Amino acid sequence: MAYTFISGATGGIGKAFSINCAKKGYSLYLIGRSEQKLLELKEELLKINDVSIICHACDLSSESSRNKLLSDIAESGVVFDRIINVAGIDIQKPFSEYSTDKLISQMRVNNESTVVLTHELLSHRAEEVEVITISSMSGVSPMPYFALYSATKAMLTNLFVSLHYELKKSKVKVTVVLPGGVYTRPDIVEQIKEQGLWGKLSAKTPEFVAEKSLRAVSKNKLKYIPGFFNKFLNFIMSVLPKRIVLAFIARRWKNQTKDAF
Ligand SMILES: NC(=O)c1ccc[n+]([C@@H]2O[C@H](COP(=O)([O-])OP(=O)(O)OC[C@H]3O[C@@H](n4cnc5c(N)ncnc54)[C@H](OP(=O)(O)O)[C@@H]3O)[C@@H](O)[C@H]2O)c1
Repeated sequence: MAYTFISGATGGIGKAFSINCAKKGYSLYLIGRSEQKLLELKEELLKINDVSIICHACDLSSESSRNKLLSDIAESGVVFDRIINVAGIDIQKPFSEYSTDKLISQMRVNNESTVVLTHELLSHRAEEVEVITISSMSGVSPMPYFALYSATKAMLTNLFVSLHYELKKSKVKVTVVLPGGVYTRPDIVEQIKEQGLWGKLSAKTPEFVAEKSLRAVSKNKLKYIPGFFNKFLNFIMSVLPKRIVLAFIARRWKNQTKDAF
């Protein structure tokens, strides 16, 4: 039996993927930091559909915790036909205000763990595999005052676009997803509200993102940008002079700060 691996399964978008996949009858291998949250999620999913569910609490910013996850996977002989990389940290503040620990943990969770897990899980793959990675519209352009998050997401977008081509012939479908706002944690919902019409036009529900991303990867789409407004923004940012885009972003994001949760 092949499993669908979901990191960040206990968060807003990860949970929407977990529910969607449970409804489709997929066997699930779920990752989150908190054992308690994972148990509650498992209970909720089993009420939806009686699928096989393995949960593994893992701190993706810790190499030893990640290695324990990988050795358990190797020992159990589990194989994966879907890898859904969702876990991420969205710290938002001027670069000079970061602690070194926060700089490192954001890069580890967003990039290092996503790269290492994808690489290792592909060595425990079923014959055909789908890989979805949740990047962000924040990675489309560099973002002053949201600089590191934006850079980690740009890295994911570039990496998985390359892998889409590199793995095409080995029956691995790779789609990178670039959501704008998604109504997940209360602080994010509040921030979307504060952005007024812009926020409203850009934002989607986690259920929408999950369903459309699963459809996109089944069609082997290279990239999926949820919603017309975000597609439009992506186009505009590619044609406007960089200095105009950067000045606009800097003005807009200067006064917003948020720490990791
Ligand atoms: N919401 C948006 O507006 C939006 C927009 C674009 C992209 N995204 C991206 O979408 C993804 C999910 O966002 P979300 O809004 O659903 O976030 P969320 O509700 O905060 O969920 C984040 C998930 O990542 C897990 N996680 C965080 N740090 C971890 C660590 N050190 N080790 C293991 N797991 C860890 C969390 O586990 P715990 O439950 O244990 O904390 C949780 O399951 C992120 O990659 C984010 O960058 C979000």
